[in-house]
Amino acid sequence: MTEIRLVRGDITQQHADAIVNAANSSLLGGGGVDGAIHRRGGPEILDECRRLRASHYGKGLPTGQAVATTAGRLDARWVIHTVGPVWSKDEDRSALLASCYRESLRVADELGARTVAFPAISTGIYGWPIDDGARIAVQTVRDTETAVEEVRFVLFDEAAYAAFATQVH
Ligand code: AR6
Repeated sequence: MTEIRLVRGDITQQHADAIVNAANSSLLGGGGVDGAIHRRGGPEILDECRRLRASHYGKGLPTGQAVATTAGRLDARWVIHTVGPVWSKDEDRSALLASCYRESLRVADELGARTVAFPAISTGIYGWPIDDGARIAVQTVRDTETAVEEVRFVLFDEAAYAAFATQVH
């Protein structure tokens, strides 16, 4: 049974086997969580991302998929990069957001990670409403079969924490 924990804070300060990055399909960095991970984790992460682009993802990592690299200087063994969908009011992209959580857990299982820290994927620059993003995150983790023992959602602000707390409790 996977334990779900909520903490408020900066995901780059977490100690976990794997830290999930809310990346974009270029895998070459950006703002938000992505910027913070590359800043604090150092250049090794970007080097590996570049190699992955060259070897496997010439067109970029597709939305909803996940791939792991070293965690560089972060207090983790791996960073799992996943690409959330951009929020759309015209199109239901929930399945892609759920896929980010499911695929990240699948990669975590392949690696043998037992503790995984997630941000609230797509709820920042990609504009997904936090209540719905929290619902999809918690429901998908609950519905996914995985050997991961602890999923820790790391929420940056009080509103995000409250949205997740409503789903978990
Ligand atoms: N720790 C934890 N949560 C954070 C942190 C942090 N250090 N920084 C922001 N958040 P975002 P997205 C929260 O924008 O919406 C990048 O440019 C934030 O408040 O990081 O998936 C990528 O390269 C929000 O709730 O990711 C992509 O282009 C959540 O983390 C794009 O942004 C996710 O916000 C991805 O956008």
